Amino acid sequence: MSAPTKRLYIKTYGCQMNVYDSERMADVLAPLGYGMTDRPEDADLVVLNTCHIREKATEKVYSELGYIKQMKQARAEAGGQMTIAVAGCVAQAEGEQIMIRQPAVDLVVGPQAYHQLPELIARTHRKRGERLAADFAADEKFDALPVERNPTGVTAFLTVQEGCDKFCTFCVVPYTRGGEWSRPVETVLAEARDLAAKGVREVTLLGQNVNAYAGEGGLAGLARQLAKIEGLDRIRYTTSHPADMGDDLIAAHAELPQLMPYLHLPVQAGSDKILKAMNRAHTAESYLRLVEKIRAARPDIAMAGDFIVGFPGERDADFEATLQLVREVGYAGAFSFKYSRRPGTPASALPGQVADEVKEERLARLNALLDEQQRAFNVSQAGRVLPVLFERPGRHPGQLSGRSPYLQAVHVEGPDHLIGQIVPVRIESGQKMSLAGVLEMETA
Ligand code: 5AD
Ligand code: SF4
Repeated sequence: MSAPTKRLYIKTYGCQMNVYDSERMADVLAPLGYGMTDRPEDADLVVLNTCHIREKATEKVYSELGYIKQMKQARAEAGGQMTIAVAGCVAQAEGEQIMIRQPAVDLVVGPQAYHQLPELIARTHRKRGERLAADFAADEKFDALPVERNPTGVTAFLTVQEGCDKFCTFCVVPYTRGGEWSRPVETVLAEARDLAAKGVREVTLLGQNVNAYAGEGGLAGLARQLAKIEGLDRIRYTTSHPADMGDDLIAAHAELPQLMPYLHLPVQAGSDKILKAMNRAHTAESYLRLVEKIRAARPDIAMAGDFIVGFPGERDADFEATLQLVREVGYAGAFSFKYSRRPGTPASALPGQVADEVKEERLARLNALLDEQQRAFNVSQAGRVLPVLFERPGRHPGQLSGRSPYLQAVHVEGPDHLIGQIVPVRIESGQKMSLAGVLEMETA
């Protein structure tokens, strides 16, 4: 970890429990660059870890806050900034009330929520328009949007949203990429029209949390507008959060033939205990009901997901619940990861970190199941006629390579001039990664 760049002052009142909690708070804040100071007037973050047990305890906290407010003002006059947090039992008892009575307080956090301190502080800084200059080791694998590929081809990525407000406890994105931000509908449409004019037939709308798209009409509205663009025959989007999968977006899947029947909807885990610790805001059951609803709207939709194995505290039974959920959903594709400890994220400070051998073994079992499902899905396409958008010549001369509506790679023998066209293909066989077929119609 790098040297502290910010100063933290914690005043602890009351019992041993609070002493312990104060240490834990210092632990979760250290990766954000906070080192301890015993001079509140120098602190960038002041935490009062309060106690409610004695009479007038609350009044004492308010009078202490009066002093700290003066220090905050002095800092502001000197061009600096101080964040004031109230934790502990008074925070629990009084809640947001504290911020009303003493507006200098930036955040209030109860004893059950100390793991959320990085989130709460990040939110406070965002409100002031600051980014968190933290020690987050941004990991391209988890943090970045897919890099734009073949912009000259017939498919293109189009970024519509960036950042994330979800604060999954394992994830760096809300810190490194900042808050959710959406491009206005008009600029997206202008870019899409331009792409279509240049021969693009399929766009994939990108966002770290794309279905939280907040331009007018939301993502469903945007899809409806995009569907009107001449030549733009296929629309996809990635990545989505279950909590933002609203009825309107589901309805759009039933309504718009351009919206491809493939949905990447990460669930991460199948155990409610783990989902809660991940701050995912859904349960296994609510996710399954959501998938049911989506399939009622678009029965042939192919589901894809992201999974994390070996999250802190994951026991065998929790992992079994993930396998069970995978069996119930039936995925056409997936990305699975071993939990990796990202400094600065709340989960990295959790007890119960899982040994790497255990993660390896769980990942292998999960992948075996997901691979089997993907293969079964591909094999089940044999005999169907699917519209395929041809994107490029295949690996061998005379071959073409394209994509089915379900994002499967499809290989056929065919002439190059079909590149950029959507053509019916009779699927003859499916393998793990691709489908092979023949052109349904003779083409000159
Ligand atoms: N460890 C493992 N997987 C992670 N992901 C994000 N952060 C982590 C982490 N710390 C995975 C999630 C997410 C995908 C983009 O990366 O599954 O959906
Ligand atoms: Fe990270 Fe995705 Fe969770 Fe946002 S929703 S915090 S990007 S895993």
